[in-house]
Amino acid sequence: MRAKKIVVAFGTRPEAIKLAPVIKELRRYPKRFKVVVLVTAQHRQMLDTVLELFALEPDYDLGIMMTNQSLGDVVVRILQRIEPVLKKERPDLVLVQGDATSAFACALAAYYQKIPIGHIEAGLRTQDKYQPFPEEVNRRFITTLADLHFAPTGWARMNLIEEGVDRRRIFVTGNTVIDALKEIVRRQGPGRVPVLNTINPNNRLLLVTIHRRENFGRPLTGICQALRQIVRLHPDVEIVFPVHLNPMVRGTVRTILSNHKRIHLIPPLDYLNFIQVLKSSYLVLTDSGGIQEEAPVLGKPVLVLRNRTERPEAIEAGTAKLLGTEPARIIRETSILLKSKRCYQKMARAKSPFGDGRAAKRIREILTRFLAC
Ligand code: UD1
Ligand code: UDP
Repeated sequence: MRAKKIVVAFGTRPEAIKLAPVIKELRRYPKRFKVVVLVTAQHRQMLDTVLELFALEPDYDLGIMMTNQSLGDVVVRILQRIEPVLKKERPDLVLVQGDATSAFACALAAYYQKIPIGHIEAGLRTQDKYQPFPEEVNRRFITTLADLHFAPTGWARMNLIEEGVDRRRIFVTGNTVIDALKEIVRRQGPGRVPVLNTINPNNRLLLVTIHRRENFGRPLTGICQALRQIVRLHPDVEIVFPVHLNPMVRGTVRTILSNHKRIHLIPPLDYLNFIQVLKSSYLVLTDSGGIQEEAPVLGKPVLVLRNRTERPEAIEAGTAKLLGTEPARIIRETSILLKSKRCYQKMARAKSPFGDGRAAKRIREILTRFLAC
C-alpha cells in the first residue's frame, strides 16, 4: 500500500509550535504517511526560530511576509503561491492548525483543489466576529471547509456540534501545544536566558506579551500605561516584555515603556528561552492564545488582556482571569495578585484543562483510520 501524502501547511510562530509534535508523530510512520511541510512564512523571523528548534525543514517555503502586511496581502499572496504546489503534490489531505490567516488561506486553497482538510484546534469561539480579529472569522471559515475537526476540549466539540458539524467528524484530542511544551521542558538545559541575569533575584517577574489586532491603538496604549503604573506601585516587580515584531505593536510599546530600569523590552524569544522565562515568572499578563494554554501547566496565573476569550476553560479552571484592556482594572487586579498570597495560590494551584501531551498521537491514530493506511 502506498503511503498517504499529507501536506502540513502553516505560516506563523504559534502554528509551527503546535504542529511540530504532529509532524514528528506522523514521521514515525513513514510506511503510512508521507509528510510534506509547506510554510507560507506569514511570519519570517518568528517562524524560523521554531523551525530550527524542532529541526523542521520545509519542503516548500512560499516566503510571503512583507513589513506591515495587510490581511488582504496575506490571503492573496498565499492563494497565488500555494495553488501550483497543491496541483503538483496532489496530497490525500491538507492539515492546518488554529485560526491564523495562513491556516484559512491554505484551507481555502485545498478546498478549491477538492483536497480533504483536517483542522487542528477546531471549535474555539468567542461569538464576536471582531474579537479576536480576524481570527474568529478565520476559524469559522476553516470549520466550513474542513472534513476532520480535531477539537482540543469538550467545550470546543460542543461549539462545533451546535453549528451543525457532523459529530462523527469531530474528535477531542487535547491541544498539541501541551505536547510541544512537554518536549521543550524535557529539553531544557542548564543555560540561562540573558535577560534573567539582569533581574534582581529578590524581585518578582511579570511576563508580558501583546499582539492582537483589536488591541492596537487606544487599548494597547492603556495597557502600557497600566504596566508603567504597576511597576511604580510595586517596587519589587520587574517586567520582561518580549515585544512582537509587528511595527504596530513595537511603536506604542517603545514610546510608553522604554527607559525604565525595571521594564525589560526585548525581541521575541525563541520558544525554548520563552518557556524558561515563563518558568521564572511570577505572573503573566497577555493577550496571547497559546500562552493561556501553556502557563497553567507551569502553575503560572494568567491575566488575559482582552475583552473576550475563546478559551473559557482556563477561566473556569481558575488559572486565568479575563481583565479586558481598561487600565484601572488591570492595575487593580494585578495588585491583588501581587499582594494577596491566598488569591495568588488559588490561581497557581489550578490544573491545566487543555490536554495531557498526547494530542499528536491521537491525531495520528484518527488520520490512520480516515485515510485507511
Ligand atoms: C499573526 C496572526 C495571529 C497570531 C499571531 C501570532 C493573522 C491575521 N494573525 O498575527 O492570529 O496570533 O500571528 O503571533 O493571521 N513581523 C515580522 N517578522 C515576523 C513576524 C511578523 O517582521 O517574524 C511583522 C511584519 O511587519 C508583519 C507584521 O509583523 O507584516 C504582522 O504580521 P502578521 O502575521 O500579519 O500578523 P500578526 O500580528 O503577527
Ligand atoms: N512565544 C515564544 N516567544 C515569545 C513569545 C511567545 O516562543 O517571545 C510562544 C508562546 O510560548 C506560545 C506562542 O509563542 O507557544 C504564542 O504565540 P503568539 O502569542 O504570538 O500567538 P497566539 O497564540 O496568540 O496565536
